[in-house]
Amino acid sequence: MDFNYDPKEIRFSIGDEQYRLHPLWMRERSLEEGAVDQNSLQRLYDPEKIIEGLEIKEVNKLDEDKLLIKFSDNHVAKYCIKNLIKEIKRAKGLPDKVFWNKDSISLRKFKFDYNTNENKQIYEILEYYHKYGFAIVSKLKPEDGEIINFAEKIGYIRETNFGKLFNVKSQKQPNDLAYTSIELESHTDNPYRKPVPSIQFLFCIHNSCQGGDSTIVDGFKVAEDLKNENPNAFNTLTNTLINFKFKDKDAILEKTGKIIKLSERGEIKQIKYSNRLDFVFYQDPKKLDEFYASKRVMHKMINSSKYIFKFRLEPGDLIIMNNYRTLHGRTSYNTAEGNRWLQGLYIDHDSAKSKFKLLSEEI
Ligand SMILES: [Fe+2]
Repeated sequence: MDFNYDPKEIRFSIGDEQYRLHPLWMRERSLEEGAVDQNSLQRLYDPEKIIEGLEIKEVNKLDEDKLLIKFSDNHVAKYCIKNLIKEIKRAKGLPDKVFWNKDSISLRKFKFDYNTNENKQIYEILEYYHKYGFAIVSKLKPEDGEIINFAEKIGYIRETNFGKLFNVKSQKQPNDLAYTSIELESHTDNPYRKPVPSIQFLFCIHNSCQGGDSTIVDGFKVAEDLKNENPNAFNTLTNTLINFKFKDKDAILEKTGKIIKLSERGEIKQIKYSNRLDFVFYQDPKKLDEFYASKRVMHKMINSSKYIFKFRLEPGDLIIMNNYRTLHGRTSYNTAEGNRWLQGLYIDHDSAKSKFKLLSEEI
């Protein structure tokens, strides 16, 4: 690592990468006693109260990974280069995402053993989940409510107007198509909520009907392929605003959003696709022509055998899905013979990320 500095910035390079560090940006990151509480690492001062025009007075390299910086307000702090680079590169401490289609994924079920180290098992499940956007766990007790016990090992449950958990069974007068026996094409759940539920758990208690297989699609892979193969359709779907709506006798829920949401840096951030609940806003018919044509392209992709990964949930199987990334569905089933009973619930991204990071430190 080579570095040099002047009062206004520190410059250093590692390999081909060059970095320029602002004095206040560095000063705010001091972990010295008096600067942050040594337990919580929270700041003990307001950065706005540091002198205006703070400068670098002196920089010394302590070893390959450590710099000692003296600032013009006489504060002296030690910095770990590795941690600075992680922050600069916005490393999140999570496994890199692996985009997949049907041919690049295979069925893997994590057999849960109630009698062995739970943390190691949860770590492996969450590692796989963060890479692929879903994970399937098997050998759980196929009992009413067991999904809650398992979900609480990972995080807090997000209760909705469907309750703490919802039962996916065929009903006579359902308030949602999930509670019928018809086929459900690839969709994401509850785009009409604010915030949209992050992670869905779907747990199988009975599945003896003919049909009723589960399907899942990597929406990020579809969006990435769409961007390469049909950039116009991709742009239309990342720009067109839609109103997603749900209504029953107890709740009226609405949320505006786009089918493909991008981050400020242009990364694919979230897919909202729910064909039965989306109402594109009133606009110029030519614009709507473009939108409908683009949506057809995406609809064809998310329901094609190239992207759909189909499998059967057996009693005791649980699928954990990132509802911002994956789309899910099921084939129709026949209730004349056997029965099908799934239970579902939602938890937040925060929970699963936090749990994974904590377990990473422990394991
Ligand atoms: Fe669903």
